[in-house]
Amino acid sequence: MTHHINPEAEIAETVLLPGDPLRARWVAQTFLQDAVEVNAIRGMYGYTGIWQGRRVTVQGTGMGMPSLSIYVNELIRMGARNLIRIGSAGGMQPDVKVRDLVLAMSACHAGYPSATIFRELCFAPTADFGLLSRAAAAAPEAHVGQIYSSDTFYDERADLGEQMRRHGVLAVEMEAAELYALAARHKVRALAVCTISDHLLTGESLPPEERERSFARMVEVALHAAHA
Ligand code: ADE
Repeated sequence: MTHHINPEAEIAETVLLPGDPLRARWVAQTFLQDAVEVNAIRGMYGYTGIWQGRRVTVQGTGMGMPSLSIYVNELIRMGARNLIRIGSAGGMQPDVKVRDLVLAMSACHAGYPSATIFRELCFAPTADFGLLSRAAAAAPEAHVGQIYSSDTFYDERADLGEQMRRHGVLAVEMEAAELYALAARHKVRALAVCTISDHLLTGESLPPEERERSFARMVEVALHAAHA
């Protein structure tokens, strides 16, 4: 069996999951005490440290559901029980603005790694209610609702986005649906907290210097959701 996470790594029950491994390093340096690098395989950094007396791991997942699926499968085998994605998303509704926070109650998709095991059935990937309700309490400003987990960043199917929008989908990202399906299968808890970094209707995008500040808010909300 190939290990994508160092099998000796000490993984906490609560794991934050940014796509970008350098964000994982930044989260560890900014929020965790006594953080130790627990993974560097393929440059997909992971750290375990202490936040307010509790052990927390932050592990990069890479972009997209096939990559996330590898890391989340291994993290769950290694003891992860609260898995919270922290990442960016593209806004899909006029009232969901760049910089806004979205808590993903559920995540629709047009195909994801877990799809094949359901055969002709469609499973509805859904967040853990406890994590979601605590995140909503920690972030009253956040939008709460359905997002769309796409496997195609440069998507030519404009009409697909339009149908999602008509049905109230708040934002698009590329990981949550698979995270939720894996959490359900393994009876652990999952949530995706997203910051709107760009907007599909307006074409606006968050300036790089503001990304860090918005990312910090997401981390705070995720840590409070796991530990309230
Ligand atoms: N993540 C951030 N913005 C995105 C977009 N427009 N599409 C998919 N994933 C994203």
